[in-house]
Amino acid sequence: MTVKELKAAYAEAYGKQPEAIYFSPGRVNLIGEHTDYNGGFVFPCALSFGTYLLLSKNNEKKMNFRSLNQPEVTSITLDKLTERLDKSWVNYPLGVMAQYVKRGVDFKDGYDILIWGNVPNGAGLSSSAALEVVTAYALNDQLGTGYDRTELAKIGQKAEHEFALVNCGIMDQFASAHGKANRAIFLNCDTLSFELVPVELEGVKVLISNTHSPHKLDSGAYNDRVAQCQLAVKQLQTVKPELKNLAELTEEEFNKIQSAITDPVANKRARHVVGEVQRTVDAVEALKAGDLEKFGKLMNASHVSLRDDYEVTGLQLDTMAEEAWKIPGVIGSRMTGGGFGGCTVSLVKDESIDQFIKEVGAAYKAKTGLDPEFYIAEIGDGAKKVEE
Ligand code: GLA
Repeated sequence: MTVKELKAAYAEAYGKQPEAIYFSPGRVNLIGEHTDYNGGFVFPCALSFGTYLLLSKNNEKKMNFRSLNQPEVTSITLDKLTERLDKSWVNYPLGVMAQYVKRGVDFKDGYDILIWGNVPNGAGLSSSAALEVVTAYALNDQLGTGYDRTELAKIGQKAEHEFALVNCGIMDQFASAHGKANRAIFLNCDTLSFELVPVELEGVKVLISNTHSPHKLDSGAYNDRVAQCQLAVKQLQTVKPELKNLAELTEEEFNKIQSAITDPVANKRARHVVGEVQRTVDAVEALKAGDLEKFGKLMNASHVSLRDDYEVTGLQLDTMAEEAWKIPGVIGSRMTGGGFGGCTVSLVKDESIDQFIKEVGAAYKAKTGLDPEFYIAEIGDGAKKVEE
């Protein structure tokens, strides 16, 4: 939808013009998966698609929520902004408002809000982070709270923890808040220091393959992984009491002390995390040195580790990645995001894109019975006010 069409939809919904329009993007992670909540590195980039939020003040002391993607219309009075709803998409923007209230912000006015997003839902491309961050950004602008982008990301992450009940790391909200066109974000999730690294690939595209098998982060499998990593840290502390995060360990150190993790599942999870942090550091170095072949090999190794040790892939993601590896012009391919369905990300030479879509698409459909979808990723900017 164009901005003009969005404004027309707003006028139809609320019988007036919006006072302001905001946008925040989804993200694709190139490498560094399930490392963020372990204090490790990630390397995501913001996408050109995302979520729009249109608003204007009302005199009703209520937040009115509508979305062009959802049928439900919800009104919440200003004294109820910290109360989670039982089951509703509104929990994402509401969860962000609750964080503002918790920080002492006193909402004097209500807003009439309309949302529209073009990040495919449940595809592992952070439609929820886009919605959280666009809300956090809009409120910051409207209320003059002066939070910086990192703070907005933290507000979005807290909303996810408390209102969506997913104990996620900071990667998605950070990428949505801090993204820059043609750059990936090399983020240290422990210190939140980051570097924007150019992703200008000559003759190569970042291709996203949607398995159309929705991921279900709230199913508990994600929170289980977080808990298994915490267990691994706890068991490792018996031999290394000062350890706080798995990401502090080199592979060499890990191999020396890993037998302290007596729980076999937690042991495998920890091995993935330690290896993935190293792969992310190596991949960024390879990209800076122009060594795409190495970057691609590290992507493939990341997928294998997520498949065998972290066990977050499954038939659909494995088929998509493994079929991609068979195409000669594919530099690397792996699952991206939380896993359990969703998307893969691949680096593909221009001349092989058509072959990829045709052959990987056909093999995937034959094995899974599902129709996949492919997008060439455009790396876009982070949260912003849309100037008309
Ligand atoms: C989801 C979470 C992120 C991150 C990824 C896995 O997208 O929201 O915080 O943990 O999974 O890397």
